[in-house]
Amino acid sequence: MYQYHCLNPIADVGLNLFNDKYKKTEELTEAEALLVRSASVHDVEFPEGLRAIARAGAGVNNIPLEKCAEAGIVVFNTPGANANGVKELVLAGLFLAARDIAGGVEWVKSMGADPEIARMAEKHKNRFAGGEIKGKKLGVIGLGAIGVKVANAAAHLGMEVHGYDPYISVKAAWNLSRNVRHTSAVEDIYRECDYITLHIPLLDSTKKMVNKEAFAQMKDGVVLLNFSRDSLVDDEALLAAISGKKVRRYVTDFPNPAVAGQEGCLVIPHLGASTEESENNCAVMAVEQLKDYLEHGTIKNSVNYPNCDLGICQGAVRIALLHRNHPGMISKYSTVMGNAGINVTNLTNKSRGEYAYALLDLETDVTEEALAQLRGIEGVLKVRVIKP
Ligand SMILES: NC(=O)c1ccc[n+]([C@@H]2O[C@H](COP(=O)([O-])OP(=O)(O)OC[C@H]3O[C@@H](n4cnc5c(N)ncnc54)[C@H](O)[C@@H]3O)[C@@H](O)[C@H]2O)c1
Repeated sequence: MYQYHCLNPIADVGLNLFNDKYKKTEELTEAEALLVRSASVHDVEFPEGLRAIARAGAGVNNIPLEKCAEAGIVVFNTPGANANGVKELVLAGLFLAARDIAGGVEWVKSMGADPEIARMAEKHKNRFAGGEIKGKKLGVIGLGAIGVKVANAAAHLGMEVHGYDPYISVKAAWNLSRNVRHTSAVEDIYRECDYITLHIPLLDSTKKMVNKEAFAQMKDGVVLLNFSRDSLVDDEALLAAISGKKVRRYVTDFPNPAVAGQEGCLVIPHLGASTEESENNCAVMAVEQLKDYLEHGTIKNSVNYPNCDLGICQGAVRIALLHRNHPGMISKYSTVMGNAGINVTNLTNKSRGEYAYALLDLETDVTEEALAQLRGIEGVLKVRVIKP
């Protein structure tokens, strides 16, 4: 029986996938698997028996990835599960920026039940008028799960779409409409585009990427959309760019004290993934990944260990080894098995940065002595026995 704990509410459609091999526990100390959404686990003390954390969502800055890797805890996220939800809100952001819809709605509200409202609307509506997005240039920075969907949808709406992503995956490239023009210099996006939308992760290299220098290269009256993370934009430089009329509107999904209520800023209370469909997709993906890991050792969509799949165990038992990516590790654990007289029928080893992962299917059951020897190999962080 595997025990799991939820630090945030997780959609039932996902939790219902846990069958009778699983039990929900209210005690983190008993859990082998942990499900989270946005709760921070930076200060959480992980129990010895914890094997995996699944983040039902994309961003993982609420999880200490290296600390988890060192403890042999595999962290998963659910990339792409909320991409359509975010895409739809970005499209709404484009329309909200094209005309002052929000300002217009506020004005109507302020008029209340004034009998003259229809006449007054005709008189005042020009204040809220704008342009159409059709024919305008949209720059999409980051062509991953969300960026590709935004780029394709905007191209369908008649925008001239330019995309920038120096690390674009093959899958994303296959999914990208051929109407999207790819550029290899972000400066082209800054220089050319009427609307710029960010779909990149927050990393040391992308923090405050949209700064004073970036704004200086943009067209006057540009619209910037940020549905990724607020620290991608330098707020001080942004506010200066708004007051200098460089930026006509900043549409963001991330309220913070610098931008909330500011002229030119349209701030949404982080609704990108807040759709029933996104939450369901994330929960289903998170639970399926946890089950596959606990029952088969398969790693898919991890953010701190390599992806690894050996299918269903074909032997008497499967060993999962989480270890440092050091030379000679494969020969060390193969030697332990050989000395114990245990035949390895199937084996795979994958690495990612500092860490590596191996799955070994054994013809016969593993002995306690062999397990102790595996655990004693320098660089081995965790050893797990999976019975088929
Ligand atoms: N508003 C919300 O509620 C919400 C929901 C989900 C995700 N997000 C944010 O959206 C971001 C993107 O999500 P995704 O699912 O598309 O992620 P993804 O990993 O599928 O795509 C990110 C893309 O950014 C590219 N990239 C990385 N560094 C880059 C750089 N310096 N310049 C250009 N491209 C770069 C990568 O190559 C990748 O293709 C996430 O990191 C997250 O912060 C927000």
